[in-house]
Amino acid sequence: MGISRNLSIFLLVLAGFVQTASDAANKGIYKVVDSNGVPCIVVQADIYLYLTYTTSDSEKDVVVHVPTSSKADTAVSSCHTTINTAGMSIDAQLLRINLDHMEGWIIDFAFTKDSRFKTENGKEYAMFQVNVTANYASDKKTFPDAKYPTQNYYLHLDPNDLSDIGGSIFADVGNSYYCPSEQKYAINDNDKYGPMAYIKFKLTTLQAYMSSSTFGPKTTCPTDQSSTDLLPIIVGSALAGLIVLTLVVYLIYRTFLPEEVLNLVNPDSHFDSDSAEGHSNDNESVLERF
Ligand SMILES: *[C@@H]1O[C@H](CO)[C@@H](O)[C@H](O)[C@H]1NC(C)=O
Repeated sequence: MGISRNLSIFLLVLAGFVQTASDAANKGIYKVVDSNGVPCIVVQADIYLYLTYTTSDSEKDVVVHVPTSSKADTAVSSCHTTINTAGMSIDAQLLRINLDHMEGWIIDFAFTKDSRFKTENGKEYAMFQVNVTANYASDKKTFPDAKYPTQNYYLHLDPNDLSDIGGSIFADVGNSYYCPSEQKYAINDNDKYGPMAYIKFKLTTLQAYMSSSTFGPKTTCPTDQSSTDLLPIIVGSALAGLIVLTLVVYLIYRTFLPEEVLNLVNPDSHFDSDSAEGHSNDNESVLERF
């Protein structure tokens, strides 16, 4: 299994290089609108799923690219709903994506302002749960030997331990979450809650609890903030360079000063003809000068 996982990672990296050029336009757009036609959730992202499924005698890892032509399921998605999970009842907004040309393949994304998810209640929202339904039976060539025709993957919520996704994908209400770089998160990495599943987002801009049809100001994820952090580094280096330049110019200038001027300021700082004759070892005269 280790080898096949390594191989699939290698192939994915390879595919990544080939794809980079075409990525700019390559993302899905998913919208949930309220009864007035105003969007409450908009997600733009290129999404990959990393799923493990049970075969007749072992397990198999697969990478599934969510077709960018996929659409939000308007019948199930909702601007006001309650998610009951792990003994909690959570006010939420729900986006369901039906994978295009992949019958029975579903991803559910749930957002909340509930303060149990380390959001400042009412001020911030977070993506708190991601569930995936994989219909392996729909494509037996791509997913051979699946023991179960469909497999559910879900993010188990632990109120005492914020998930990777919950701790990463959040923003102030009114703001969008912006993260163009690749981010991979666990949906489930614990055997206790079923087979493993991970999700990777690329070129992400998303917002929930929206009240207009355009994205609010961007909250940039930490990874993509590093490019703006270059500015202080450049300014700092320029200042350091100026200091060195000033010093060099001063030292050059100094060598052109007549000896008397230098001795006036600091007689010890210059190898004058006296020291060459050995007078510099005269400790008494050094002391006298001070
Ligand atoms: C995800 O799946 C869990 C377990 O089946 C369920 O309790 C929860 O309500 C689901 N959440 C969403 C957002 O669909």
